[in-house]
Amino acid sequence: MKIAILPGDGIGTEIVAEAVKVLKVLDLNLELETALVGGAAYEAFGHPLPEATLKLAKDSDAVLFGAVGDWKYDTLDRPLRPEQAILGLRKNLGLFANFRPAICYPQLVDASSLKRELVSGLDILIIRELTGDIYFGQPRGRRIATDGHFPGAEEAFDTMRYSRPEIERIAHVAFQAARKRKAAGGEGRVTSVDKANVLETFQLWKDVVTEIGQQYPDVALDHMYVDNAAMQLVKAPKKFDVVVTGNMFGDILSDAAAMLTGSIGMLPSASLNDKGQGLYEPSHGSAPDIAGKGVANPLATILSAAMMLRFSLNQPDAAARIEQAVDKVLTQGLRTPDIHSEGTTRVGTVEMGDAVVKALG
Ligand code: IPM
Ligand code: MG
Repeated sequence: MKIAILPGDGIGTEIVAEAVKVLKVLDLNLELETALVGGAAYEAFGHPLPEATLKLAKDSDAVLFGAVGDWKYDTLDRPLRPEQAILGLRKNLGLFANFRPAICYPQLVDASSLKRELVSGLDILIIRELTGDIYFGQPRGRRIATDGHFPGAEEAFDTMRYSRPEIERIAHVAFQAARKRKAAGGEGRVTSVDKANVLETFQLWKDVVTEIGQQYPDVALDHMYVDNAAMQLVKAPKKFDVVVTGNMFGDILSDAAAMLTGSIGMLPSASLNDKGQGLYEPSHGSAPDIAGKGVANPLATILSAAMMLRFSLNQPDAAARIEQAVDKVLTQGLRTPDIHSEGTTRVGTVEMGDAVVKALG
């Protein structure tokens, strides 16, 4: 089993190192190969996603990804910016299905900015479509307006679009995930988040999700407008089970959901294609403000490695071992600064990684 290790920028290198440490002690006969991506690759090769890095990712069973980006690249031409690396990987590998589970560990209820009773026991799954929508829709660009409110003025535009097959396949992913959760004691409900009251794209979305839902009579389906969904996420998050939505709404809602769990530093993610190949990354970014200080929380990346073992490498036992080890270190009271609260022990990135390794037993 071959894994591409792409640490990227900022805290990416620090947190991926901890996840790699955990993978190595599992003794699973994994072939790990590291490559540069993002700003680091731009510095070395003049491109955020060099051919060799893309080829390595394509030839691997899975990709373990850290994070990319730094303010210092904000003035580069868009195709050269670090973010293009992750977008390029998603597009080139066809990683259309993004799983972002938001689970509030009982040990962390008090780290959430929400009241304990709102988040205690929270276990929801956001499924974000990842290769379509306004992120990738053409045409896009800048031009001089010929109509609109200010003809003759400079304007910029992006295109929101979804085709029926794109919606169908992500809907199937969501219904199947809800079915699986139901089998494991979950509610078995999909909430499809749209903006069908305003946008054509999301009227088609809603229609197609409704149609596909008829093939899953055992899974309940409801629909919610995205503005209401944002409100419900902070008002009564436990009312959700599986949320399925488009690329941009999913980007926004998953950050909001992250905070319910105490810290975005706890949230893993998986992005899968139709061949089961996947890219696994923490849901957070490169956090240049704390990079190099040894304080970043490596748990989202370590939990992403667990998702990788489960989804792409068919190693559910090893995945469960990692998840139990994470649970154990939290119970021991170890906390990186992002999840630290009174009465717990503050540790750094490396100490946290070492503690997880030790807890693996
Ligand atoms: C995410 C990130 C990315 C996105 C950025 C880094 C391009 O915010 O994975 O949520 O917008 O998808
Ligand atoms: Mg995001």
